[in-house]
Amino acid sequence: MTARSADRTVYLRSHPVLFALLAATRRRPVLRLGRTVLVHHPEAYREILTRVPLDRTAEHTTGGTAARLTGGGLLFDQTGAEHRDSRRELAVRLGSDGVAALRPHWQQVLDRLESDLAAGPVDLVPAVRRLAGATAAALTGSTADPVALALAAERAAATTARTHLPALLPRPGAERRARRAAAQLTALLPDPRDAMLAVAAVNTTLAALPRAAAWCARAGLWEQARTDAPALAAELLRLTAASPVLPRAAAADATVLGHRLRRGDRLLLVARHAAEAHRDTPTGDPALAAQAPFGLGRHACPGAALARAQLADLLTTLAPHHPHVRHTAAHPRSALPSYRRCLLSHRPEPQ
Ligand code: HEM
Repeated sequence: MTARSADRTVYLRSHPVLFALLAATRRRPVLRLGRTVLVHHPEAYREILTRVPLDRTAEHTTGGTAARLTGGGLLFDQTGAEHRDSRRELAVRLGSDGVAALRPHWQQVLDRLESDLAAGPVDLVPAVRRLAGATAAALTGSTADPVALALAAERAAATTARTHLPALLPRPGAERRARRAAAQLTALLPDPRDAMLAVAAVNTTLAALPRAAAWCARAGLWEQARTDAPALAAELLRLTAASPVLPRAAAADATVLGHRLRRGDRLLLVARHAAEAHRDTPTGDPALAAQAPFGLGRHACPGAALARAQLADLLTTLAPHHPHVRHTAAHPRSALPSYRRCLLSHRPEPQ
């Protein structure tokens, strides 16, 4: 099995409806299904995120859902000066000095991972959960246990995602479960802005890092990881596109690549296809493909540099051991296509 087809099973097992919808419609750049518009084309994705006014508090969007569950004012749902101020404050914490200050918190986890790997097989999922939780705790100044914090952020995202992504069947009680999970997270991180930051950071990291490391192992890229981990990390983040669909809503009528969008349309922006994650090499703009997994425009992910640094450090830690993938299992209930288990071993598997 190739690295690509193995990675695809994460979608098939954890988000089958979403995967089927994306695969069936992939060749249509922009496709309207009633009041829902699926956007696959990289240029259309870029135009919508940078040029089309979006309703940041509409139902079934990331911002709208966050605002409804926590009271609002959480970056995703903000606009104008309020959003600019929040971003400026966060830019300091997530800029290069901020990332350097956070590094010791995740490096500790990687040191432990390395000694565990020397002793036998390791499951990357709990290790990355600890890494993401420790980073989120340091970023928010929380003294909560990093693993408890990460698990609460995972539950909050998983229950929320189920209220705004396409589904085969109705989900009774989904809203109630999402509220309960949000309350459990804010018991650990009382400031809703910190809770939102933890959700945004933990779930993407937990989706991206194990899948990227497994891809690296299956494709035999450890030598490249040893010599140029940052470039490989950026490419693996493109290929795995951890946050594959951005649910948004149009706040005004617009025309994108000749397609009419109407105010109030629900937009499913397919980051995975804008990143050309389904291709080994992008056929369009390579810079756009590399940035697409992190969004574009004023709301583009402020944690991208942190994510790239963490993946590069993880690959650097693993590279000397040339680990093999022993076993992976997709998570059936995660917010994003993720592994529940990702077992790596530094010894070749017995034949
Ligand atoms: C592989 C890891 C990650 C991926 C793929 C990712 C992806 C994204 C995407 C697609 C968006 C929406 C962008 C848009 O609407 O244009 C976003 C927003 C955001 N991300 Fe990330 N992210 C990652 C890691 C992180 C980390 C580590 C943090 C924090 C430490 C973070 C914090 C945020 C925040 C706060 C926003 C909201 C920004 C705003 O609305 O102004 N992300 N991310």
